[in-house]
Amino acid sequence: MNPLAISIQTLALQGPIPASEVMALALYDPEHGYYRRAEGPWGFEGKDYYTALDLGPLLGQTIALRLEAAWKRLDRPSSFTVVEPGAGRGWLGRDLLASATGDFAEALRYIHRDDNPAARRHAEEALAPWPGKVHFASESESLRPFTGAVMSNELFDALPAQPWRFDGTRWTMEVLTASGPEWHASDESEPQAWFEGVMAAKGETLEASDGSIWCAALPRVVSTLAGALTRGLFLAIDYGDTAERLLAKGSDLRRFKGHTVDGKWWEDLGESDLTADVDFTRLASLLEREGLTETGHQELSKWIRTHAPLMAWEADWQKLPATDRMKRMENLLQLTLPGLMGARFRVLEAWRG
Ligand SMILES: C[S@@+](CC[C@H](N)C(=O)[O-])C[C@H]1O[C@@H](n2cnc3c(N)ncnc32)[C@H](O)[C@@H]1O
Repeated sequence: MNPLAISIQTLALQGPIPASEVMALALYDPEHGYYRRAEGPWGFEGKDYYTALDLGPLLGQTIALRLEAAWKRLDRPSSFTVVEPGAGRGWLGRDLLASATGDFAEALRYIHRDDNPAARRHAEEALAPWPGKVHFASESESLRPFTGAVMSNELFDALPAQPWRFDGTRWTMEVLTASGPEWHASDESEPQAWFEGVMAAKGETLEASDGSIWCAALPRVVSTLAGALTRGLFLAIDYGDTAERLLAKGSDLRRFKGHTVDGKWWEDLGESDLTADVDFTRLASLLEREGLTETGHQELSKWIRTHAPLMAWEADWQKLPATDRMKRMENLLQLTLPGLMGARFRVLEAWRG
């Protein structure tokens, strides 16, 4: 057993630990947390998962167009700062900087914000071609007010989250005990009020096995990021769905290990990735509470079909060598076909100014 699993087992002997606390330690324990390890877990070969950025540049190119449109809407400021929390290897920043052109490219500044040490090393390499434009910030550094954009890919699904279930008469939350995972009754009122409000708005009552995920850190993270954005676009891409659909499916934590996925969040602590669906209804309402407007979210596949530079993509694609053409095709299909990434992910956009 690894040192983190041993210390969590010891803790569990003293009493049940909420799943969200286990997830926090498993991912962010300063010494043994999955996102604090010296070696990164990314990519296709022998690793735990890949993100849309591993598939090719289509996501970054599409975001570049959305950010350029935001820059134009702001009357083309001479400085347009893009903050990326959870920036990981910096590949989205790289794809954005590589596809921006003209005066927009001149105005672009990029801030990589992520304390993941393995990812940071990759990011320094990936972003090396733009030395004057890139700044690395730690997660604790306070953000100075800026005009531009906040963009993120798979940040919110990596925040510690707590599974909740309605058992027919009362609310329960998933905990880790010395003998394994269990559901224990809880009277913590805020998540329950949120879930019940969602059902009431739909005009329905709760049924046994309805349940969802509650991310306690969400208001703080949203407030830090949105609070510093004086004018511009907030754009988040993540696994997740509306509050209503998450409740209906009984959303739970997921474990990724060696490209397989299951619900055993209590196993291989610190050595496998844990993620939770993002409640986009709640994320949107928190952004609105911060004063952002025009908030909306949709499936990634629809967003890509609406905003991606598909005509240019087609022309470039024809000129590529055969293996690169195959990769580009896979990039496009993964982001657009139902059942693949395009349907499992959503894109949220909100506006300030
Ligand atoms: C699933 S990874 C995504 C990495 C990258 N965006 C990608 O798509 O490859 C989540 C990252 O979010 C980072 N993270 C978690 N909480 C954060 C926070 N509050 N601020 C900034 N980064 C955070 C983690 O360290 C981790 O590198």
